[in-house]
Amino acid sequence: MKRVGLVGWRGMVGSVLMQRMREENDFADIEPVFFTTSQAGKPAPDVGKDGVPALQDAYDIDVLKSMDVIVTCQGGDYTTAVFQKLRDAGWDGYWIDAASTLRMADHSVIVLDPVNRRVIDEALAKGVKDYIGGNCTVSLMMLALGGLLEKDLVEWIAPMTYQAASGAGAQNMRELLSQMGVLRDGVSELLADPSSAILDIDRAVTDTMRSETFPTDNFGVPLAGSLIPFIDKQLENGQSKEEWKAQSETNKILGRSEQPIPIDGLCVRIGAMRSHSQALTIKLRKDLPLDEIEALLAQGNDWVKVIPNDRDATMQELTPAKVTGTLSVPIGRIRKLAMGPEYISAFTVGDQLLWGAAEPLRRMLRILQE
Ligand code: HSE
Repeated sequence: MKRVGLVGWRGMVGSVLMQRMREENDFADIEPVFFTTSQAGKPAPDVGKDGVPALQDAYDIDVLKSMDVIVTCQGGDYTTAVFQKLRDAGWDGYWIDAASTLRMADHSVIVLDPVNRRVIDEALAKGVKDYIGGNCTVSLMMLALGGLLEKDLVEWIAPMTYQAASGAGAQNMRELLSQMGVLRDGVSELLADPSSAILDIDRAVTDTMRSETFPTDNFGVPLAGSLIPFIDKQLENGQSKEEWKAQSETNKILGRSEQPIPIDGLCVRIGAMRSHSQALTIKLRKDLPLDEIEALLAQGNDWVKVIPNDRDATMQELTPAKVTGTLSVPIGRIRKLAMGPEYISAFTVGDQLLWGAAEPLRRMLRILQE
């Protein structure tokens, strides 16, 4: 049984990971050791088994060194502070990480096994020890398009995203709700009066949104009632860092960074809670009938679900409200575009914390036990 160190299990991604590991009975097959950055010595969480030691110090290299596997959701600063020290101290275990720090490193593989199991298996055979979860938007897009990517039918993709608040962090989710509440509270009397003028309500909402006291500490600007068309840092070429990840990570995941599929579009934050959505424009390498495209997509993996391009089905099935909290990755609005027979549209939604973050990590841990 592998000794598995878990770091950052109390944060948002870590909590989702713990929940999934409990649901899938993953703790039965490992010897878990829980680490903490602030509460060493306190009791470990109850994971349904005896003999789990008290919380260990997440910066204690000697204790970390005794792990066969370390799974961390602690974030990039922790990875930067600890990973190299641990390797320099001679640790040869498996490092499974949700943070982006090591994603593009030569010595790492980005894990998304329903799409790149072959790449993972080859890396394991070669002795690669570092397995990193991908960017949420990238992983969700790839799960949706796995059936086309596997057959190398995609010439390029332009993803335009509609990203949830959770991608920015737990505090941002709270702030989105606070913003919604403040907007609503500011017009409650007008709202309660059916004869009030909607333009008066709108003016009051806009004034509130622009006021100095509107809660924007985390997002910097209003998100509720608005949107933010820039995610993560600004790069010199005009892309945001989030946009840059689409092409670089997708091709690394597929093991084809030498012959990359061009993937580029705009990433936008919207007022959804924890499911990211993306509108995709795809150029296929050839003209395929729509039913064949849909069949290929549906066969991609066990979680993708093709939604017919029908108004009611789309409204019921293809939304964050429907998908959040599930592993389902629906893809719909699939149709040929006016640009030509090789151009198709698609729209996909997925839970940013499940397949977008926690699930690929716990599955990698499972793969190590095969
Ligand atoms: N960077 C993503 C976002 C989430 O801001 O939505 C993490 O992959």
